[in-house]
Amino acid sequence: MECPGELPPASDPDLVARAEAAKAALGDRVFVLGHHYQRDEVIQFADVTGDSFKLAREAAARPDAEFIVFCGVHFMAESADILTTDAQKVVLPDLAAGCSMADMAVLSQVEKCWDLLQDLGISESVVPVTYMNSSADIKGFVGRNGGVVCTSSNAKRALDWAYEQGEKVLFLPDQHLGRNTAVLEMGYSLDDCVLYDPHKPNGGLTEQQLRDAKMILWRGHCSVHGRFTLDSVEDVRERVPGVNVLVHPECRHEVVTNADYVGSTEYIIKTIEAAPAGSAWAVGTELNLVRRLALAHPDKQIMFLDKAVCYCSTMNRIDLPHLVWALEELVAGRVPNQITVDRETAHNARVALDQMLALP
Ligand code: 13P
Ligand code: SF4
Repeated sequence: MECPGELPPASDPDLVARAEAAKAALGDRVFVLGHHYQRDEVIQFADVTGDSFKLAREAAARPDAEFIVFCGVHFMAESADILTTDAQKVVLPDLAAGCSMADMAVLSQVEKCWDLLQDLGISESVVPVTYMNSSADIKGFVGRNGGVVCTSSNAKRALDWAYEQGEKVLFLPDQHLGRNTAVLEMGYSLDDCVLYDPHKPNGGLTEQQLRDAKMILWRGHCSVHGRFTLDSVEDVRERVPGVNVLVHPECRHEVVTNADYVGSTEYIIKTIEAAPAGSAWAVGTELNLVRRLALAHPDKQIMFLDKAVCYCSTMNRIDLPHLVWALEELVAGRVPNQITVDRETAHNARVALDQMLALP
């Protein structure tokens, strides 16, 4: 998707000054949110940085900001629109900043899956839970059907709640977060989990498998975290004796089970901050964040878990030229790339998001 306006060239030496001037001109009218996977050049202008849970809460807590500029990806901006007032406008500096994981669960596919569960007479006992990394449509579906949104910071609490409401969970769209939480944090076995493939008839599962499962995992994954392998873990342990392996729960099950520490982006940051000087850390998450952590903690040895894995290409779409363009458009009285969710979807999605924000 092309930028609909005049994008400043990346070589413009005044980009930093232009962003500063536009932000100053907007003052309290604008609030800039920056996800931890954003580029340094963008993060420097964020009023607050965080993982997707923290940013959702920050968006909800800023009713006075007329414009929320979301430096992150599309599903995050949608959630911000749902959680803010009608008067507030959410701007995504580049509309091409999507998420391949969120795109792996399309509403029509999820409804087909639900129809199947209804035909089998088991939908009543299934609670849908969606990861924040999903479209507003999917969150709306979950809200309509008595479920909850979760993030990597609160997946266990969301699943605890879901299993109080019903016997089974349909977990969308990240199979790894669902499996890792169910097996490693809640005591379910791998046999309790089945994988529903939306591209196969009946999800590629038998009626009995669906009836027996405690956890029906949607076949989706993160194209960044899904690339870390058990080999990456074994290799770094061999190269760096005593290294601590710290990974995000979007990584594959065998990577997570062989890591030393597992948690959301915020958890990863806090763990590194609390680590003693001289300790060594191989971190399995997005590269922008790992590079920033390494620069911020020169007294610790911080490395990327696998050299073959790189930036999230869609997070990286938001660069300084797009941010400058978006801010200057706002100064000029135009609202660029506004993200809006229709009223009915927003209402249903809000039910599922509020349920998440109310988790103990
Ligand atoms: P968190 O922000 O919840 O850690 O999720 C990571 C991610 O992949 C965001 O796109
Ligand atoms: Fe999506 Fe993964 Fe990128 Fe997050 S890191 S935006 S889940 S592709």
